[in-house]
Amino acid sequence: MLDRAPAARLLAYEILPEVARLAAGTLPRVDVQLADALATLPELEGPVVVVGNPPWRGHPAPRLEARELAYAAAYPGIEALMRDYAPSGERNWKWLSDDCLRFLRWSHEIVRRAGGGVVGLVLNHAWIRGLAHAGLRARLRAEFDAIYVLDLHGSRLRPEIPPDGGRDENVFGVRPGTAVLLLVQGGRPDGARARAAAGHGALADVYHADRWGDRAAKLAWLGANDVSTTTWTRLSGGSGTDPCCPVLKDPRYDQWPGLGELFGQWSIGMVSGHDARSYFLSRRELLARHCDLDPESVFEALYRPDELRWTAFDLHVRPRRKVMRLLRAPGARGLAALRQGGPEVRLRFLEIDRPIDNCLLSTQSTARAYAFPLLREDGGTNLDPGPLGLVNAEEAFAYVLETLGDPAYQRRCGQAQLYGFARIPPACT
Ligand SMILES: C[S@@+](CC[C@H](N)C(=O)[O-])C[C@H]1O[C@@H](n2cnc3c(N)ncnc32)[C@H](O)[C@@H]1O
Repeated sequence: MLDRAPAARLLAYEILPEVARLAAGTLPRVDVQLADALATLPELEGPVVVVGNPPWRGHPAPRLEARELAYAAAYPGIEALMRDYAPSGERNWKWLSDDCLRFLRWSHEIVRRAGGGVVGLVLNHAWIRGLAHAGLRARLRAEFDAIYVLDLHGSRLRPEIPPDGGRDENVFGVRPGTAVLLLVQGGRPDGARARAAAGHGALADVYHADRWGDRAAKLAWLGANDVSTTTWTRLSGGSGTDPCCPVLKDPRYDQWPGLGELFGQWSIGMVSGHDARSYFLSRRELLARHCDLDPESVFEALYRPDELRWTAFDLHVRPRRKVMRLLRAPGARGLAALRQGGPEVRLRFLEIDRPIDNCLLSTQSTARAYAFPLLREDGGTNLDPGPLGLVNAEEAFAYVLETLGDPAYQRRCGQAQLYGFARIPPACT
């Protein structure tokens, strides 16, 4: 790369003194700055090329709040910019707290302010399809002219099945999957708007490619190839928030109502924070352990598909009372369904008759179970049959369950359900 840009000014950031010294010694043309890159936002004139293999650091939820506060104090600039990547209406955007996404936002902003250039980063691949990353994808599609995504897979957090059914290893030997991202902004202050003014689509096209297999094969392929020799699949149309990978689905899928629109009140299942002190095999055991609890407040919840456990709302860090109360009512019925989760999570919905745990369908971190009660507190229905072309909520409820369990529907739309609540075709289609 250095040979191809003989006149370019070359600037590098490294936070560790010994690594910075090593870099300065081996790369004499590069101005190596011993500095925390995220603490500054260099103003550079375009076109700018920002390349990096930034650190990845996600943190488990309990430490997150303190960490977020620390970040906000240390890096007010980048933290304010990160808000641009927040998905609209999404409460759970803790996954955006990965450091590699801060470096993405940082690089994105440098190129944006310079009025053009290229970003090339090696990232945790979760952003390609994650629900929490919908706002990030929309922003990239709106502000760049072309997006190249090379998914190197190899996730042990959310294992995937390679198309040939063989092995799939991580290129770095780490648990999250890996992807190379290239963002191109063609020298216009706002590529998307300029394209829109010229009558073209306002969103960047995404070019996607995959590499599966063992680590050695992936590294050998990377060493022998570049953008021009990669076979890309062009993804155009659709919405900005769509996953940046091909998704097989019925062409009408996006127009159908999703579970989140059909049901008025819904929420994620109860989150205990510590199952061993919140769930019990018998009512007696529960009341013996928590003798201060009002016996009227305890109830049986659906903990796993075939396991009931005694619990009480007061024993959960997030009891989701408003919705779970509807499922505690006598004769309660409802649906439990996933919002995302990998393809290996087989059980994706269940008819329910009581409050549920958020791990009801899977303990995989992205495969949380959501509850959709059929009835509201006043006895009215919580499911609008209208968008399904039906008039009766009971009938609509049976139709939703039947559709979700229909193998033909799953073949046509199963992949799309990995990226959001299932959408249901109106009854006449
Ligand atoms: C994943 S390593 C990549 C190292 C090397 N570039 C490579 O590709 O093999 C990330 C590097 O970023 C440096 N780093 C981490 N946080 C940084 C920050 N805030 N500012 C500058 N450098 C940072 C680390 O010290 C480390 O050298």
